[in-house]
Amino acid sequence: MPNLVIIGTQWGDEGKGKIVDILAREADVVVRYQGGSNAGHTVINNRGTFVFHLIPSGILYRGTLCLIGNGVVIDPAALIEELDHLQGKGIRIGSNFAVSGRAHLILPYHKAIEKANEQSKGSRRIGTTGRGIGPSYADKMSRIGIRVGDLLNPTLFRRKLHENLVEINWFLERLYHVEKIELEKVFQQYMIYADRLKDHIADTSIMLSKAIQRGHNILFEGAQGTHLDVDLGTYPYVTSSSSTAGGACTGTGVGPTVIDGVLGIAKAYTTRVGSGPFPTELTDAIGAGLQERGKEFGATTGRARRCGWFDGVAVRYATRVNGLTSLAVTKLDVLDGCKELKLCTGYRYGGKIYRDMPADLDALTSCEPVYEAMRGWTVSTTGATSYAKLPREAKRYLKRIEELAECRIDMISTGSKRQETIILRNPLEPKRKATTATKR
Ligand code: IMP
Repeated sequence: MPNLVIIGTQWGDEGKGKIVDILAREADVVVRYQGGSNAGHTVINNRGTFVFHLIPSGILYRGTLCLIGNGVVIDPAALIEELDHLQGKGIRIGSNFAVSGRAHLILPYHKAIEKANEQSKGSRRIGTTGRGIGPSYADKMSRIGIRVGDLLNPTLFRRKLHENLVEINWFLERLYHVEKIELEKVFQQYMIYADRLKDHIADTSIMLSKAIQRGHNILFEGAQGTHLDVDLGTYPYVTSSSSTAGGACTGTGVGPTVIDGVLGIAKAYTTRVGSGPFPTELTDAIGAGLQERGKEFGATTGRARRCGWFDGVAVRYATRVNGLTSLAVTKLDVLDGCKELKLCTGYRYGGKIYRDMPADLDALTSCEPVYEAMRGWTVSTTGATSYAKLPREAKRYLKRIEELAECRIDMISTGSKRQETIILRNPLEPKRKATTATKR
C-alpha cells in the first residue's frame, strides 16, 4: 500500500484538512511532521464541526493511528485543549494517538520573545501567528530546545529550564523591557501537562517503521504551504519549519524511499496571511469578493487572508520542489459567478519575464504578474460531485491549471463538506509519475 505526503502548494490554507479527512478513511496512520498550533483547519462531518491545530484529523476515524512527529513543535496547553475538545465531543483518544518524545516544546518564553520581537520590527514584521513557533525552532537549532520527552524527567526538565531562563530573562528584561518568566511557575505548570500527556509520549519513528513493515498505509500531513517553507519559501516571510515534502522524512524519522506519492493541494485562486510578497494579490473589489465568498479568515488567528488570482508560477514551483505526483484543487465553487478569471503565467521584473519563481525577494515583491484571461462560469459548481457535469469554462480553467502547474489533478473540492468533492483518481493508488496531459 502506498504512503502519501499531503502538502500545500501555496501559502497555506489551501484546504488540506478536508482532503486529509477524505483520504484518512483509507489510511492506517496519519502523521503530522512540521509546524505546530500555528496551523488550523476545520472538518465538518455528520458528527459536527471540529477545529484541529495539532492532532491529525484522522482521529475522527476509528482504528486510524494518529501521530505527531518529531518535526512538530508542541504547545502542551494547546494540545491538551484539543484533546479535551475532541473527547468532549465523544472522540475516543487512547492508544490511537501518540506524540514523539523528540518533538520540541513551546514554552511561555517563546511566545514572549516572539511578541516582543515582532513589535520591535515595526513594518518589517513577519505577521506571525504569535504561537511561539519561530523561537521554539530557533532554540532547537541552537541546541538549547527542551523536548516533549524531557517532560518525563522532571530533574532534567528543571535544569534545562533554569539554564535557558538565565539568558532569556536577561533579554526579556534588558532588551525588550517586558516581565521576566518565573521558573517555578512554568515548571509546576509543565509538570501538570506532563501528567496529562505521559501516556501519549512515544518513539513515533518506531511506530511508523512497524506500520511500514506491516504494509500499512500512511498519510504524512503537511501544515502551512510550500511558499512558507523556511528553506524554499519566500524567506524571510515564512514559517520556521520544512513545510515542503522533504520535511515529511526529517519530521517523522522515515527514509525518502518509503514515500510513494506527494499530493499537492492548490486553491483555485491564491491566499496569504501575514506579511510578505504575493505577486497576484488583488486589493480591489475582486479580491474582497474572493475573501467574502471563500470565507477567507484564519482558523487559528481569525485574521483576514489576502486574496488573489491563481499563480501558475508559484504552483509549478511547488510541483518541482515537492516532486508532486498529483494535485487536489480546492474551493472551485468560490469562483462561481466571476465573469472573467485570470491565471498568472509569469512575472515581469527589471525588463525580464520570469517563468520560474525567483529567489530574490525584491523581484518577488516588485514584479508584475503576467496574466492570461479566461471566461468564467455562471452555473453553480457548489457541491458538484461529477466532473462531467461541470460547466465547460470550469473544465477549461482546471485544464489550464494542470498545464501551468505541470501536474495532473486527481481531486476537485467544491464545498466544505466531505461529499462535496470530485474524485477523478484516488491519489492513494500506487506510485505514478506526474503528467500534464489528462484524458477524461
Ligand atoms: P509563524 O508560523 O507563526 O511563525 O508565522 C510565520 C508566517 O507563516 C506568518 O506569515 C503566518 O501568517 C504564516 N502562517 C503560519 N501558519 C500558517 C497557516 O497555517 N496558514 C497560513 N499561514 C500560516
